[in-house]
Amino acid sequence: MSPSGINLLALLGSAMTVAASPSHAPAAANLCDLVASQLPGLVSYPGQAVYNASQDGYYTSNERDLSPSCVFRPSETAQVSQFVKLVAQNGARDKSGAYKPLFAVRGGGHTLWSGAANMDGGVTVDMRGMSSLAVSPDQKMVSLGAGGKWSDMYPQLVPYNLTIAGGRVPGIGVAGFALGGGVSFQARRHGWSCDNIYGYEVVLASGEVVYVTSDSYPDLWVALKGGSNNFGIVTRFDVAAFPSTQIWGGTVTYNYTPEVLDAQAKAFSNFMDPKNFDDAAMMGVILGFANPGGFSVSNSLFYLEPTPIPRPTRNSPPSLPRATPTPVTNGTNSLGLTAGESDVTMLDFTIAYNNPADDQMVESQLATVVAQQKKAVQDRGLLIPYIYLNYADKSQDPIGSYGGQAKDKLKAASKKYDPTGMFQKALRGGYKVL
Ligand SMILES: Cc1cc2nc3c(=O)[nH]c(=O)nc-3n(C[C@H](O)[C@H](O)[C@H](O)COP(=O)(O)OP(=O)(O)OC[C@H]3O[C@@H](n4cnc5c(N)ncnc54)[C@H](O)[C@@H]3O)c2cc1C
Ligand SMILES: *[C@@H]1O[C@H](CO)[C@@H](O)[C@H](O)[C@H]1NC(C)=O
Ligand SMILES: *[C@@H]1O[C@H](CO)[C@@H](O)[C@H](O)[C@H]1NC(C)=O
Ligand SMILES: *[C@@H]1O[C@H](CO)[C@@H](O)[C@H](O)[C@H]1NC(C)=O
Repeated sequence: MSPSGINLLALLGSAMTVAASPSHAPAAANLCDLVASQLPGLVSYPGQAVYNASQDGYYTSNERDLSPSCVFRPSETAQVSQFVKLVAQNGARDKSGAYKPLFAVRGGGHTLWSGAANMDGGVTVDMRGMSSLAVSPDQKMVSLGAGGKWSDMYPQLVPYNLTIAGGRVPGIGVAGFALGGGVSFQARRHGWSCDNIYGYEVVLASGEVVYVTSDSYPDLWVALKGGSNNFGIVTRFDVAAFPSTQIWGGTVTYNYTPEVLDAQAKAFSNFMDPKNFDDAAMMGVILGFANPGGFSVSNSLFYLEPTPIPRPTRNSPPSLPRATPTPVTNGTNSLGLTAGESDVTMLDFTIAYNNPADDQMVESQLATVVAQQKKAVQDRGLLIPYIYLNYADKSQDPIGSYGGQAKDKLKAASKKYDPTGMFQKALRGGYKVL
């Protein structure tokens, strides 16, 4: 073989190496430095104030206990786009060319489980610097920065006598909530929060910024309604605005006795009776247990008018630990629920405890309780297999619960809009479609 032939082979070899895995494939810590050099002032390291604020801003210590190498906090869409391009060009890949886990994206940080929106040793993108609000001239639409909290948005809409379909307690992030579905006080009237989103500004895996509507990208538009963080980093949500001045509501707590629980169950059953359906009314029954304190039974009632529920509700599901009548859907989403079906009841189990050493025990006990409750409902022929992504545990498969057809569409959207699999592999956290 001639010397030039050897050189050619060597060249081809190295060219192929470059194609399969970029030669400058940095570890995540280096991605931090790269982003810091390209986007000065937006990267914060352990011990620094912005890093601390991101860590402190999670709802659970399950998330706070993770330690990203740095926090990237953009304030503009162009910066998010540049970040994604840096990941695409310099992201670490394995031998097959697939990304290694590099970054997490967080909004309000209200997902309970460890690793949903934070990670050990990578870049956590803290979207909370993008928290704007703008009301359209016709007052029918509100544009929300993706890093905002719903509870920061409502007060800004009071002067307009408008509201939006967002979270029901303070602190919940716009993005995670809206991308997973979203149960708002408007749910029984207008459906899921995601049913009421006209447009999304999204940074795709290529770094391209697209505006996604039912006309511009119909498949991606539907995929974003329940498909969570699988398709891009959303930078803005354009949502429907509803006239509203005041709503009525509150929670009443009773001491537990079997009779009280039974009466609550009957009242809830009565409330859910189709002949009592009132789209302004929402009710949840909470069976609580505290140590010390024992059991309690609470009744959360809401009405979309300044006055209380006009029709008194009396009387069930069996001993349901926590239930919220939830919500109608018009089917413009990826959740796989039957459009037009008026009402379903959701069960949600939450455990709060202090000692991280108890994690495994709590998780396995909770899994047992959930399995038993599921069986009890299934045995009565009442189970709807849908699992709500925003209330799901790490161990559950909410996207699988949407059904094969819905999931196939999500897979197709992922392959089309994220052909390199950035949001499947490089993005840590959440539930993957592939
Ligand atoms: C106290 C409390 C009350 C709640 N009340 C309700 C309620 O009334 N109704 C209801 O439906 N749910 C409720 N939830 C559940 C809530 O909807 C979820 O926790 C939701 O994920 C919160 O959104 P977030 O932005 O705060 O979450 P995060 O944990 O920050 O993010 C959730 C997921 O969204 C992804 N994500 C975040 N931002 C972006 C973005 N810009 N682009 C792409 N992906 C992104 C993250 O990567 C992560 O996987 C409640 C939760 C808590 C803790
Ligand atoms: C960030 O938190 C660490 C650990 O709690 C603390 O030592 C440090 O002083 C904090 N930094 C700032 C700028 O507050
Ligand atoms: C909002 O509603 C209140 C009470 O009905 C009314 O007094 C006020 O004029 C309204 N404001 C706007 C901007 O419509
Ligand atoms: C459902 O609601 C959304 C938002 O209001 C709307 O864009 C869509 O057309 C509705 N779909 C149907 C089938 O009515």
